Amino acid sequence: MIPTVARITGTGRGLPSRIFTNDDFASIGIETSDEWIMERTGIHERRIASDTETTCWMAATASRQAMARAGVTAGEIDAIILSTATPDRLLPATAVDLQAELGATRAAAFDISAACSGWLYGLTVAEGMIASGAIDTALVVGAEKMSAIIDWKDRSTCVLFGDGSGAVVLQRNKSGERAGILSTFMRSDGCLANLLYRPDGGAAHPMTAEILENRTHLVKMAGREVFKHAVREMSEAADRALDSAKLRAADIDLLIPHQANTRIIEATAKHANISMDKVYVNVDRFGNTSSASIPIALDEVIEKKIVGPGSTVMMVAFGAGFTWASAIVRL
Ligand code: UT7
Repeated sequence: MIPTVARITGTGRGLPSRIFTNDDFASIGIETSDEWIMERTGIHERRIASDTETTCWMAATASRQAMARAGVTAGEIDAIILSTATPDRLLPATAVDLQAELGATRAAAFDISAACSGWLYGLTVAEGMIASGAIDTALVVGAEKMSAIIDWKDRSTCVLFGDGSGAVVLQRNKSGERAGILSTFMRSDGCLANLLYRPDGGAAHPMTAEILENRTHLVKMAGREVFKHAVREMSEAADRALDSAKLRAADIDLLIPHQANTRIIEATAKHANISMDKVYVNVDRFGNTSSASIPIALDEVIEKKIVGPGSTVMMVAFGAGFTWASAIVRL
């Protein structure tokens, strides 16, 4: 039995305190209903961050919990990999703000931009850095303040997203056991970028009064098209993770899909031949928190003891780019 390179030794989550329900959209003049949102997405409520609950704040809250559970101090972290589509500032990376906030004085720190799949990309990069011998201990964080980049006047997108953060400590597996990351998979297709993107406000089209007026610096999404690709690519990602771990669907104790929409989750589970009682869903409480969705869910299922040591968990994500990714871990 070949031991794994790296294993997750602690998890945590950091969530804003304010709960914003589907019924609350009426109070900001959005014409929608709990019935429409529930039927199309399964979302009932989401967390919305305050001005002081920054991406870094949420990331630090999740990270401190993950480090405490792993029994690791800030000084023992070799690398901080922070996935976010909503950095607090455009320069420097939010990961270095997190490094300073935690006092992780020996750590390299950088952001990953791969949208909803970003945390799985980060996990894969961290595993590679451990395999190369460059590091022993990484903090892999997904943190998103989606409320800052969505168009609160566009009902087709603003009802979908929420804020939050999840984090894990990933460490070299010194146990000799086959516990930890069993397989990973990553893909992308930039030809489809314009189906889910922020058209303006970046270096190609720096911010102008016109951009602000036209709201083209905010998230635009072709929902139906994205939906179709999400189902197809998440299904592929599930197949590839199983193949490279040499496992069958029956070996998976729990599937944690990216939490965007219950219909996408159900279609992915069906394709992977995993029954819904083995699929974790919390999109009803948090909406789509982009790259934070899987680590938040992972922390919840460990805390609730839905899974524990020895459990095999498959994680699958899809997001803007498009990017898609998967990983299978044995806890
Ligand atoms: O992390 C990956 C990122 N994104 C996703 O996973 C999202 C993927 N897409 C989806 O989940 C779905 O496409 C949505 C939930 C976004 C939309 O569902 P849909 O069944 O594809 O609806 P639609 O966009 O085709 O809109 C149907 C109708 C439209 O009205 P008409 O033109 O048929 O009269 C919309 O104007 O629903 C209307 N609509 C709404 N009605 C009430 C759109 N948004 C809303 C709303 N409340 N919030």
